[in-house]
Amino acid sequence: MIKAVLFDLDGVIVSTDRCHYRAWKRMADEEGIFFDEKINDRLRGVSRMASLEIVLERASRTYTDAEKAALAERKNDYYKDLIRELTPADILPGAMENLTELRENGILVAVGSSSKNTPLILRQIGLDGFFDAVSDGNNISHSKPDPEVFIKAAQMLGADPAECLVVEDADAGIEAGRRGGMQTLSVKGAKGADHFAPDLSEYSILRQIIR
Ligand code: BG6
Ligand code: MG
Repeated sequence: MIKAVLFDLDGVIVSTDRCHYRAWKRMADEEGIFFDEKINDRLRGVSRMASLEIVLERASRTYTDAEKAALAERKNDYYKDLIRELTPADILPGAMENLTELRENGILVAVGSSSKNTPLILRQIGLDGFFDAVSDGNNISHSKPDPEVFIKAAQMLGADPAECLVVEDADAGIEAGRRGGMQTLSVKGAKGADHFAPDLSEYSILRQIIR
């Protein structure tokens, strides 16, 4: 029986995936590195430094570790400028309704995100303090598809992995949930899940799945 639902943040609860794209694109353009939506899709769920390595696959020169750290910081500065504009109105359709309904039915809810900006994003969208647990890029050493972020969320909740459903928009996130021994729901076409939905806008979609 499902006791807890673990939500990815970027692309599931809020559309920060667009902000990530714009920030990487600006940095890549400045460096003369080709970057497009297709490459951006490979960055979903992947940590900042691992994402940078993917972006640099198209670079015409190599970068030192110090240069890489500076590029990642520059991208993150651009990204933070964008997410500081987020408000509760940016919560994706159906996310709040599903979260509230789960809560009312005694299901625990947690965030499982690779992002180190999770606390800032949750504050911006008014969900700071809402979740029963928040596991994010600040408390893990291996990013998705490693299951660490979700295992830690389950531990914080006192739930067994088999009692958890992971909601993800990234292939890497679905793989992380599966490797963690959890059930998985894909939104926006992420591959390899147990359940699929276009997004969370369908009324009661999560209650239907965990029933
Ligand atoms: C994930 C995003 O949630 O967080 C990735 O899907 C991103 O695209 C990762 O790279 C790390 O985010 P941040 O905010 O720590 O740079
Ligand atoms: Mg995501």
